[in-house]
Amino acid sequence: MQKLVSQNFKSLQGEITIPADKSMSHRAVIFASLANGKSVIRNFSDGQDPYSSLKICKQLGIDITLDNSTVTVNSNGILHAYDNSLDCGNSGTTMRLMAGILAGQNFNSVLIGDLSLSKRPMRRVIEPLLSMGADIQSTDDHAPLVISGKKLHAINYSSKIASAQVKSCILLAGLNAEGKTIFTEPYTSRNHTEILLEHMGANIETDKTSVCIEKSELAPVDIEIFGDISSAAFFIAAALVVPNSDIILRNVGLNPTRAGILEVAKQMGANIEILNQREICGEIVGDIRIKYTEELKGCEISGAIIPRLIDEIPIIAVIATQAKGKTIIKDASDLRNKESDRISTVVTELKKLGVDIEETPDGMIVNGQTELKGGCEVETYHDHRLAMSLYVAGLITKKEILINDFEWVNISFPTFENLFEKIKS
Ligand code: S3P
Repeated sequence: MQKLVSQNFKSLQGEITIPADKSMSHRAVIFASLANGKSVIRNFSDGQDPYSSLKICKQLGIDITLDNSTVTVNSNGILHAYDNSLDCGNSGTTMRLMAGILAGQNFNSVLIGDLSLSKRPMRRVIEPLLSMGADIQSTDDHAPLVISGKKLHAINYSSKIASAQVKSCILLAGLNAEGKTIFTEPYTSRNHTEILLEHMGANIETDKTSVCIEKSELAPVDIEIFGDISSAAFFIAAALVVPNSDIILRNVGLNPTRAGILEVAKQMGANIEILNQREICGEIVGDIRIKYTEELKGCEISGAIIPRLIDEIPIIAVIATQAKGKTIIKDASDLRNKESDRISTVVTELKKLGVDIEETPDGMIVNGQTELKGGCEVETYHDHRLAMSLYVAGLITKKEILINDFEWVNISFPTFENLFEKIKS
């Protein structure tokens, strides 16, 4: 589907509720499937990725119903073999978390994914799982993953990369392994797994960048999923760069291990305010008010903050196009392993719009305060976040832009454009 983005509005005004967090939706349905009892998950994400997790849990024999956005899971915590491949679609979270669970079952499974997921690296989960006693065959460390279930034992593992998917995979394997599993990462990545597992009664403890877990039974959960900061990010960016905008985003997750974009926005001098801060199942949630900020300043983004904003780098690059001076993004080479090589695809497509941007091995450099010309076609490379970032850039180009294969936004955010239509005034 091609999407024409034009500048037929004056500014962004009003309030919207941000749809459910994708990371939390995956975890809620997967962990509820491992729990003993009835779990209720309200406001489950309508993205395709979390649905892949839900469908696989069902195929593994768990009684799950989806009624509007409410998911009810009735489980005794025991999974059963599925006599076909389990299809993770485009979702790296589904594949990596399920690998950790399936490695320790008393049956065999095969995890497959779409073309893009089949190109993403799986060595990062295969290696630690093998050292726990798992038996996993792959094609050159890529999906399909052929898993022969084994009894696992605990490990003390130091990961070279800060990755919540790798951490969650090993913690879920550790939940069903003999002994104490310790996972350490160089910087703290999103900690939704740790918070939700603890909330559901797991024996889990965090000490700086290490997490320790022991074999535990999970209690069912009753949770209302809050809004996704990674989806909110597109509206934050749009309001900052479209003159005279003033919007409020309701019910957004503000977990500090996810909300790096707010730290960066503050550093850039953005006019942002947090309202109604509250807590849901151990997670911080609030409303965000954003006003157009004429005097944004470029900044350096590197080191420990990278995992806290890893999914927001494409849209931060769009904000940086309007900031004064240079924005330098470093230490983000893992961006090359996402739904597309996000260093190369972001730089290539923003250049087409007239952005002064340069690719580096582990990031990019954006020279700000450029007028975006537009008047061209851009590509999404089957990457939902690139599609949405280009849409936001298209709101401030001089001429209309045409985004090819825009339907990839459905991976995480089917109502993306409708919500933008609501606040264009
Ligand atoms: C996710 C973790 C991140 C992120 C992805 C979702 C998660 O991936 O990019 O969109 O839900 O755990 P990595 O763990 O590979 O950094």
